[in-house]
Amino acid sequence: MSSVKEQLIETLTEEDKDSQSKVTIVGAGAVGMACAICILLKDLADELALIDVVADKLKGEVMDLQHGSLFFNTSKIVSGKDYSVSANSKLVIITAGARQQEGESRLNLVQRNVDIMKSIIPAIVQNSPDCKMLIVSNPGLIWNKRRNLSQCPLCLGTKWCLRCCES
Ligand SMILES: NC(=O)c1ccc[n+]([C@@H]2O[C@H](COP(=O)([O-])OP(=O)(O)OC[C@H]3O[C@@H](n4cnc5c(N)ncnc54)[C@H](O)[C@@H]3O)[C@@H](O)[C@H]2O)c1
Repeated sequence: MSSVKEQLIETLTEEDKDSQSKVTIVGAGAVGMACAICILLKDLADELALIDVVADKLKGEVMDLQHGSLFFNTSKIVSGKDYSVSANSKLVIITAGARQQEGESRLNLVQRNVDIMKSIIPAIVQNSPDCKMLIVSNPGLIWNKRRNLSQCPLCLGTKWCLRCCES
């Protein structure tokens, strides 16, 4: 899907094919889209990829972002259910997660979220073996579990970010 910018502006020189600061967000919910908008407004990435299991919702969110693309410097916004769209990411922000259901214990929620992470982390590492991961999904307990799943040298939870902000 081409953005408004791509439709209006003719490209005269060939663009750099490999992005240098690609960011992927897994989970296009409230938190994921807030992250996406902040990244675009602060010009933090030259390519943004969004992944979610709910294809229709993802498509709508990405269309909204692309309509605003005239105001962003980030030239490329890609999306899909397949983790190949995340290839070559420098940073992957994980905001995907199940919500606590009425009467559900926190321990049960942890198990459901661990299962979700089992489907996400290996696919990310396969496509971007050198990426850093920022884990936003709750509960924080599963952060350690994710670190084990990825064998990734740098995997940050939001608790870590908050501690850095405090100090
Ligand atoms: N750490 C923090 O400071 C902080 C703050 C707010 C929310 N959170 C946590 O962030 C997470 C997201 O919150 P939200 O309000 O955006 O929830 P949300 O329900 O709006 O969004 C979650 C998204 O994840 C997607 N998803 C579910 N399973 C997936 C999978 N296997 N692969 C890809 N996508 C998947 C859902 O389709 C949904 O779009 C929750 O775990 C929440 O508790 C953390």
